[in-house]
Amino acid sequence: MFSLFKKKERMPDLPVPEDFSFLGADMHSHLCAGIDDGAPDLETSLELIRSLKSLGYQRLITTPHVLPGIHNNNTETITTAYHRLRDFLTQHEPEMHLGVAAEYFLDNEFLTSILPQGLLCFGAEKFVLVEVSMAGWPRQFEDIIFSVQANGYTPILAHPERYLFEGDMQKYAGLKEKGVLLQMNLLSILGYYGKGVQQLASLYLEHKLYDFAGTDLHHVRHAAQLKRLATEQPAIMARLGAYEGWRNSSLIQ
Ligand SMILES: [Fe+2]
Repeated sequence: MFSLFKKKERMPDLPVPEDFSFLGADMHSHLCAGIDDGAPDLETSLELIRSLKSLGYQRLITTPHVLPGIHNNNTETITTAYHRLRDFLTQHEPEMHLGVAAEYFLDNEFLTSILPQGLLCFGAEKFVLVEVSMAGWPRQFEDIIFSVQANGYTPILAHPERYLFEGDMQKYAGLKEKGVLLQMNLLSILGYYGKGVQQLASLYLEHKLYDFAGTDLHHVRHAAQLKRLATEQPAIMARLGAYEGWRNSSLIQ
C-alpha cells in the first residue's frame, strides 16, 4: 500500500509505503517458542506474528538460531517447535502463512557436524540463511560457502551491515559474484544497531548489494521499532519501497 500524501523531505517524487506489504514475505525471524533468544512462549510468538501481520506481511519464514554451545538446535528441535507453533496459529491466526528454516552460524563446527546432516532451507533455490561472528570472518569462510553451494544450497548472508569488522564493499560484491545473496536487517537502516551499522546499510543499499530485507524479529521491542520505521520514517520507507532488488515477494506462495 502506498500513500502519495506522506511524501516529504529529499525524495518528494517517490511514493512512501505505509507498511512492508511491498515485501510481503519475511525470511528472518525468531518466532518459534523457547528454542533460542526469540519468543519465550507461544503467546509471545502469536503477539509477534500479529505485529508482523499488521505491518503488511502475509508470509513468514522463521529462522531459529543454530549456534552450537549457545542455541543447540538441529532440524529435529526446530521442526518440533515449528509444528507446535503452527498448530497454535491454526487456532488463533489461521490466515498467516508460516514456514521454517534456520539461521546457521558459520564456523568450523558447521562444516564438520551441521552441514553433513542436511540444512533447513526455503524457496525454489534452496536458500539457507547464514550468519558469522560479529568479531570477524570464520577461518575457512570461503571453503564453508563453497561446501554449502556444493551441497545444492544457495547461501544468504544475514545482515552484512552488522559486521563492522568488514566495511569493504568489494568483499560483498565478490561474494555476490560467487552466488552468495545478502540480506539487510530493516532495523539496521533505522539506526537501531547504531550509527555505523546504519551507514553501512545505507551504503550497501545505494550500491544495490541487497537481495532480501529481513526483520530479524526477536521480541516486542523490535516489533515496536519496525512500526516506528513504517510510521515515522517516510524518507527511509520511500528508499526501501523504491529499491528494485528485493526478492522477498518471490517467497509468497
Ligand atoms: Fe537472526
